[in-house]
Amino acid sequence: MKKICVVGAGYVGLVTATCLADLGNEVICIDVDEDRIEGLKKGIMPIFEPGLAELVEQNCQQERLRFSLSMEEGVRASEVIFVAVGTPPREGGGVDLKFVEAVAAEIATHMNSYKIIVNKSTVPAGTGARMQDLIRAQRNGDFDFDIVSNPEFLREGSAINDFKRPDRIVLGCTSERALDAMRALYDPLSIPPLETPIIATNVESAEMIKYASNAFLATKISFINEIANVCERVGADIDTVAKGMGMDSRIGPRFLHAGIGYGGSCFPKDTEGLLEIARDAGYDLRIVDAVMKVNDVQPLRVIEKLQRVFPDLGGRTVGLLGLSFKPNTDDLRAAPSERIIESLHAAGAKIKAYDPVAGEEAAKRKWPIELCRSAYATVAGCDAMVVVTEWDAFKELDLVRIRESMLSPVLIDGRNIYDPTVVAEAGFHYDGFGRGSAAS
Ligand SMILES: NC(=O)c1ccc[n+]([C@@H]2O[C@H](COP(=O)([O-])OP(=O)(O)OC[C@H]3O[C@@H](n4cnc5c(N)ncnc54)[C@H](O)[C@@H]3O)[C@@H](O)[C@H]2O)c1
Repeated sequence: MKKICVVGAGYVGLVTATCLADLGNEVICIDVDEDRIEGLKKGIMPIFEPGLAELVEQNCQQERLRFSLSMEEGVRASEVIFVAVGTPPREGGGVDLKFVEAVAAEIATHMNSYKIIVNKSTVPAGTGARMQDLIRAQRNGDFDFDIVSNPEFLREGSAINDFKRPDRIVLGCTSERALDAMRALYDPLSIPPLETPIIATNVESAEMIKYASNAFLATKISFINEIANVCERVGADIDTVAKGMGMDSRIGPRFLHAGIGYGGSCFPKDTEGLLEIARDAGYDLRIVDAVMKVNDVQPLRVIEKLQRVFPDLGGRTVGLLGLSFKPNTDDLRAAPSERIIESLHAAGAKIKAYDPVAGEEAAKRKWPIELCRSAYATVAGCDAMVVVTEWDAFKELDLVRIRESMLSPVLIDGRNIYDPTVVAEAGFHYDGFGRGSAAS
């Protein structure tokens, strides 16, 4: 059992703090956001993540998990300090490290004994070394400390399971003392029955593993989206093509689902970050540049598809099913829905929308949409409906009821969730991604 401080109570920090507490550690989770911390103390979750509220409650009741605004309290009480604050894109390109640097300075201010500072935030190679220099400069070597890079690979929507059953644990660290402590911390995951492999390497390699992994996954998505665009033009079916590709063990079936592209707080920011990291190092990373360009235009293919049916979208009403960047999260950061809304609005269309959990977040953004309370209410009276997020609930909708409530039966399936034959039988003009010519 270790005394741990987790700085940042967002998607990564809150899940990390809760899961580390659930593994039996004593954890204090810190954030600068007063509302967030006050809410958490009352059991109000700042994010939607399946299973998180229950796990937070259990661990708070067992007195293994608590929340605080005080970095002093967190740092002084802990031997291991996890940094899980945001690393947003910097205006003009690159990664903004101001939150990570502010946390490093605060840790240095309150240091009272040996500390292991573990970076879970996604940061460019060299950031760990920079944190080390910052803290050394502030403390003049009066207390010993080590920096560890321990990038996080959890996915929103399945974050708890991803944290507790990761494919691998990456530990970037050159200090034996810190490495032994980190291995002990992750023992419950690395010993049988789970036997999660641990990759121990230097800080820079660990930092790079995270960017390279995200850029590779984004590449798979943009690649299959480009292949889907070709499939449409040559009469091939992307589902079958992707299945045939995925059966090759060198390729694998995952991340080969064609649609309107990736979004969220990680892939767009991390591809952009990696491009800039390479540029700073004097290297032109052309593959990642192409991946980003493909993803940038992919949501706009929805507009092209709509304009094939309605050349002038002015005055038409379009119903969007889903707003979050993927199912099981309320995260709207860099969601393709935003590009689609902007373009439809610019084309003069009226937009109705529904998302099972992201409605509240969407309302805060003041998008030019009418937010509805259900999928059926959204599409009623619409000229077209567009599937934006592949929530399971949308797969179960009564398509005949939907068609009967619409002004015209046009369905653009941005996530290929429907069987084109079934939808055509329900009387729709259907257009998916990479599924040959539009069926009607
Ligand atoms: N969201 C994901 O799915 C995911 C997955 C893997 C890695 N990451 C990476 O993890 C990091 C955090 O991402 P996130 O999605 O959890 O971000 P987030 O925006 O949800 O949470 C960050 C939290 O840090 C807090 N914070 C900022 N400065 C602080 C300070 N000085 N002291 C205390 N708290 C402070 C903010 O108030 C916020 O609550 C990023 O680098 C991200 O790239 C995210």
